[in-house]
Amino acid sequence: MTIKPKKLKNKSFLSAFDISNQEFIHILELAEKFKNKEFTINFQGKVLGLIFDKSSTRTRVSFQVAMSRLGGTTIDLNPNTSQIGRGEPIKDTARVLSRYCDVLAIRTFKQSVLGEYAKWATIPIINALTDWEHPCQALADFLTIKEEFGELKGKVITYIGDGNNVANSLIICGALLEVEVRVACPKGYEPDPDLVNKAREIYSNKSLLKITNDPLAAVSGSNVLYTDVWSSMGEENQKEQKDKEFNGFTIDTDLVGKANKDAIVLHCLPAYRNKEITEEVIDSKNSRIFQQAENRMHVQQALLTLLLS
Ligand code: CP
Ligand code: NVA
Repeated sequence: MTIKPKKLKNKSFLSAFDISNQEFIHILELAEKFKNKEFTINFQGKVLGLIFDKSSTRTRVSFQVAMSRLGGTTIDLNPNTSQIGRGEPIKDTARVLSRYCDVLAIRTFKQSVLGEYAKWATIPIINALTDWEHPCQALADFLTIKEEFGELKGKVITYIGDGNNVANSLIICGALLEVEVRVACPKGYEPDPDLVNKAREIYSNKSLLKITNDPLAAVSGSNVLYTDVWSSMGEENQKEQKDKEFNGFTIDTDLVGKANKDAIVLHCLPAYRNKEITEEVIDSKNSRIFQQAENRMHVQQALLTLLLS
């Protein structure tokens, strides 16, 4: 398999908007090849730096293992034990790290912080989650859906929960691949209208993106039900309030029963069992949640390959 398109070489992946439909398809194809052990590449000597301002299990470890499988190494730059936590200007950190590392994956709060890294770095910057987006997660989500149904065309993905980072990247990726995405959130938690409009501009069929406050109506005819925590990292103090406002938005067996018979359930994890999703559904036959988590590693191998070669 040849590594194409070369257009991603040395590019940053700050947002799902940063890739084209063709590039997205290529990442998925390459990820499948890595997963099936049909493709290898040797990035010996290449270094991925990880800067995580928030906790992480899946993203951190899947990037570490992905890089190790590619023959490269990772450095975990703990902000608290580096000068990052002291507040060294990003423009200095980014320029210095560019001289040591070949690529950086960054998890932080504001999307603008990521933009500042990308402005000053001379190496690719990958969004490992911000308050605004979680694009690497969405790559794994679509790989999981493709594996399940073979064909993405004509499928309906319904996200039930908070219209923030995970939903945002899902919406953009749906638009890139022309797959129907429905988002059902409580009033006041809808995804940002500018992001929704920008995504809708990409869709040929604009009606394939639907935002609603009615989870019951949204699940009818769905192939995929997807949820995420109600209170994201950084919102811990809103938990009590949000638990009340999200009442009625739990993915439970009843709700799954209202989707298509062969519908699958996804969750980016970590989950609060019996809040946004019931224990029963996480461990049900419809759940592809752990396959989805595994796929983080395969899509990130593909992404790193395309950014570095
Ligand atoms: N889904 C996800 O990003 O999980 P972590 O927070 O464990 O990285
Ligand atoms: N929306 C969640 C996703 C965690 C992977 C958060 O930002 O905490």
